[in-house]
Amino acid sequence: MKGKKRLLLIFSGIGMFVFLFSQCMEKPKEKVAATELSIAGAETCKQCHQKAYSDYLKDPHTHTSWPVTTDEVVKGGGGPKSAGFSFDEHLKIVIEKRKDGMYQVPYYDGEEGPARRFDIAIGSGKHAHTYGFWREDRLNQLQLTYFRSINEWTNSPGYPNRMFLQAIGKRCLECHTSYAKATNVQTGSLSIENSFDRKSIIYGIDCERCHGPAGKHVEFHINNPDDKSPKYVKLYKDLTRKQKIDACAVCHSGNDVESLKSSFAFKPGDDIAEYYHYNPGSFASAEPDVHGNQIGMLQGSQCFIKSNDMTCGSCHNAHKAEDNNLIAYSKKCISCHPTAKHSKKTLGNAMVNTNCINCHMPLKASKVITFQQAGHEGKSAYQLHTHRIAVY
Ligand code: HEC
Ligand code: HEC
Ligand code: HEC
Ligand code: HEC
Ligand code: HEC
Ligand code: HEC
Ligand code: HEC
Repeated sequence: MKGKKRLLLIFSGIGMFVFLFSQCMEKPKEKVAATELSIAGAETCKQCHQKAYSDYLKDPHTHTSWPVTTDEVVKGGGGPKSAGFSFDEHLKIVIEKRKDGMYQVPYYDGEEGPARRFDIAIGSGKHAHTYGFWREDRLNQLQLTYFRSINEWTNSPGYPNRMFLQAIGKRCLECHTSYAKATNVQTGSLSIENSFDRKSIIYGIDCERCHGPAGKHVEFHINNPDDKSPKYVKLYKDLTRKQKIDACAVCHSGNDVESLKSSFAFKPGDDIAEYYHYNPGSFASAEPDVHGNQIGMLQGSQCFIKSNDMTCGSCHNAHKAEDNNLIAYSKKCISCHPTAKHSKKTLGNAMVNTNCINCHMPLKASKVITFQQAGHEGKSAYQLHTHRIAVY
């Protein structure tokens, strides 16, 4: 969104218009009508799209980032087994509740080090929550990450060393928030970090991140309640297969890319090539990583190559996660493969007619993300179902 004028238009629940200028507008003095770039906010959609809205409230996209405002730093109940993480007999980090929030506090041989507050969380917690704390307007990652599969605190993936500050850059937020205004700041002769306009951050991935700015759509339909044909909004059903894939590729084609411009500006219908330059071998390479690169994996599958119309939507409802329901996903396989030919040996497996996933999209460990558990020298794997559908 760099250099682009952007108008942030927010409608209040009652229908009164409140105009908020997020960044420089050409003529911000007088009230202006909504434009193609006006953002209305997810709350506004509720009144006319109740089903989409109530599904969205439960979807991991919605909860993939949030400001930490309560003591609940791990969502979904239960809570981690330990109250912190011990690196060795000298250093441990303890989770503590203090007057103004929750903190990660290091102790070196019992002596307290710099306490750092849980300010924001990244990750819905389906797999993990990792956290950031503010140093003025720069965001740094907290040392400990929560991992669901072991229900424990671990050393954050990729954290170079104990208590060394790792920055959370705008690239994380491009995939995990709906908007964040960032500028580059020189922090050393060779290092650049991002400084954020904290108030600009729209947490979670909301309606307009996937559907494009809808301020004008909302304005039109509020003023024309009898017109039931969609106006000023891109319809997914009118997109080509490539455009549909691109709309998910913004965040699901891996991080091994060169950003050409901020992906916050991406709207359905845009060509992903305007945003990313894929390094040779990444997008469709033989070895894309299971983490964050579902498209690279899927594109190597015969299902994708040989069918004319397979998209992410063939198996996923973008509004509503299936919650690990592998039987429900298998119904999508069966819709294209009503008569899969299995050998006698395979047919002996009790799951063969109901759960196709464990055999054809087995769990694979990410090569880029591993996590360290307390008391273990080795690293544990982060496992995801591969999108390279095949006979394994
Ligand atoms: C005042 C009512 C109203 C509001 C508010 C509203 N819409 Fe709509 N929207 C409609 C109508 C009417 C249609 C056309 C009928 C339909 O598809 O439901 C529509 C259609 C759509 C479609 C196309 C559906 C399709 O057929 O593919 C999308 C996407 C959409 N709206 C997104 C949004 C988003 C995002 C918001 C909030 C920012 C929003 N709408 C707010 C009235 C509204
Ligand atoms: C992760 C991306 C994503 C998010 C977030 C999202 N949508 Fe959608 N939405 C889609 C896709 C993709 C389709 C097309 C589904 C299809 O055609 O199979 C769609 C379809 C729709 C439709 C058409 C009718 C339907 O349900 O198929 C409406 C209306 C709509 N979305 C509104 C919303 C609203 C309102 C929100 C926020 C409350 C929202 N969407 C959030 C991706 C998203
Ligand atoms: C290219 C987009 C992209 C970028 C950049 C990105 N992520 Fe992710 N992230 C994803 C996707 C997609 C998932 C969903 C599962 C998967 O593919 O691993 C995810 C999953 C996660 C999860 C687990 C969420 C859960 O509970 O399921 C965490 C935590 C996370 N990312 C943190 C980060 C951090 C911190 C950064 C920056 C260092 C970052 N991500 C950068 C796309 C991205
Ligand atoms: C949109 C339709 C479609 C869907 C959905 C679909 N497939 Fe396929 N699949 C195909 C086509 C087309 C082929 C190629 C068949 C051929 O080569 O004759 C294929 C091939 C395969 C093969 C053979 C792969 C190989 O390398 O030879 C397997 C196994 C398979 N699919 C399993 C699945 C499973 C499991 C699912 C669900 C997770 C699934 N498919 C979903 C269309 C689909
Ligand atoms: C703005 C970035 C972004 C866009 C656009 C986006 N996603 Fe995601 N998606 C994510 C992130 C981040 C996660 C991890 C959420 C979490 O924290 O668990 C995710 C998670 C998912 C999941 C796993 C959650 C679940 O349902 O179990 C699916 C499936 C998914 N996305 C499909 C899609 C599809 C299909 C599209 C295109 C219509 C799409 N996404 C568009 C960023 C995005
Ligand atoms: C043939 C069916 C199929 C297609 C097509 C498909 N997926 Fe999936 N996807 C699955 C299944 C099955 C899972 C595993 C569900 C689970 O673990 O809850 C899954 C899981 C995911 C996850 C969650 C990973 C995790 O473990 O949290 C993401 C993200 C995702 N898919 C994104 C996409 C995107 C983006 C596309 C389009 C490029 C896509 N999928 C196309 C079947 C499919
Ligand atoms: C126990 C593991 C297992 C399960 C479960 C399983 N498959 Fe297979 N599948 C295989 C193996 C192994 C092959 C190779 C042929 C063989 O040895 O049976 C295969 C072959 C295939 C093929 C390629 C052969 C052809 O007909 O073109 C398709 C398509 C396929 N499976 C789809 C499915 C679908 C759909 C489901 C779920 C309803 C499913 N499979 C469940 C293991 C499995």
